[in-house]
Amino acid sequence: MNTPGIFSSASPCRSSFPRLEGKVAIITGGASGIGAATARLFHENGAKVVIADIQDALGQAIADELAGNASYIHCDVSKEDDIINLIDTTVSKHGNLDIMYNNAGVLDRPLVSILETTKSDIDLVVGVNLVGALMGAKHAARVMIPRRKGCILFTASVATAIAGTVSYAYTASKVGVVGLAKNLAAELGQYNIRVNCVSPFIVATPMSAPDEGDVPKVEAIAREMGNLRGEVLKAEGVAQAVLYLASDDANYVSGVNFVMDGGFSVVNPTLMRAFKLLPEIANSEI
Ligand SMILES: NC(=O)c1ccc[n+]([C@@H]2O[C@H](COP(=O)([O-])OP(=O)(O)OC[C@H]3O[C@@H](n4cnc5c(N)ncnc54)[C@H](O)[C@@H]3O)[C@@H](O)[C@H]2O)c1
Repeated sequence: MNTPGIFSSASPCRSSFPRLEGKVAIITGGASGIGAATARLFHENGAKVVIADIQDALGQAIADELAGNASYIHCDVSKEDDIINLIDTTVSKHGNLDIMYNNAGVLDRPLVSILETTKSDIDLVVGVNLVGALMGAKHAARVMIPRRKGCILFTASVATAIAGTVSYAYTASKVGVVGLAKNLAAELGQYNIRVNCVSPFIVATPMSAPDEGDVPKVEAIAREMGNLRGEVLKAEGVAQAVLYLASDDANYVSGVNFVMDGGFSVVNPTLMRAFKLLPEIANSEI
């Protein structure tokens, strides 16, 4: 039963379809993978979707496929002028901005030793994943603060919850994103602007599986490495979490890093293995 006013005085918590009716949403990195899946799901849920990316043909194709209430804007998130143009064009076209999903990201090399880490890796990855997200949040806040409402979202990574999974540059960028999101939640709560992250485990997208043929292999690796058996995380699954965080269902959720990893980061596999070995150890002569 939903009792109005129990969870928040502003509005009752309720689930309705479409869940983003009339809301204006920008999705960076919306031409591919998690961003594209989110663009489709937001659109299906009544949002006016602005896809921002550097892959112009792909981004435009998705906007065309969604037909109506979807558009594409070229935006390299590592360039502040592009972000300013993205936000201002969206506001002049739609009148406002409700949801800013800072999702664009790059990965240098999956696992690289500290000794092989280069400054150029760090400049590239941090420039897009962290500085790009920070600038996206800044210019979204600029238009959300006067309206005293809004929702800012980020895609971070399971690397924010457990060490040793990806490169130094990528880890630094994503841990930075979570810190940034928490700081924003602290400052922007007074304006009724919610700020949250999703942090997925491995998803077979062009980032992790550059060729279509790599998808089964990447999913097999994810299945083998993962904690939760019988399931594999898909871009559409991440999009469902983003939809929840963007919707009024999450109207009192802010400052959260929503780790979607099937429990991967909370399990100690060494301990689990040791427990399985206990009977053997008990029966052996030490
Ligand atoms: N795939 C995974 O396993 C995984 C896991 C955890 C987090 N993530 C994060 O999810 C987000 C989406 O990645 P994905 O897996 O969908 O990969 P993807 O490669 O399919 O999508 C990333 C998109 O970002 C765009 N992009 C890259 N640089 C950009 C820039 N400078 N400006 C604007 N757009 C830019 C790309 O063109 C691409 O369309 C990223 O932030 C990534 O770090 C991915």
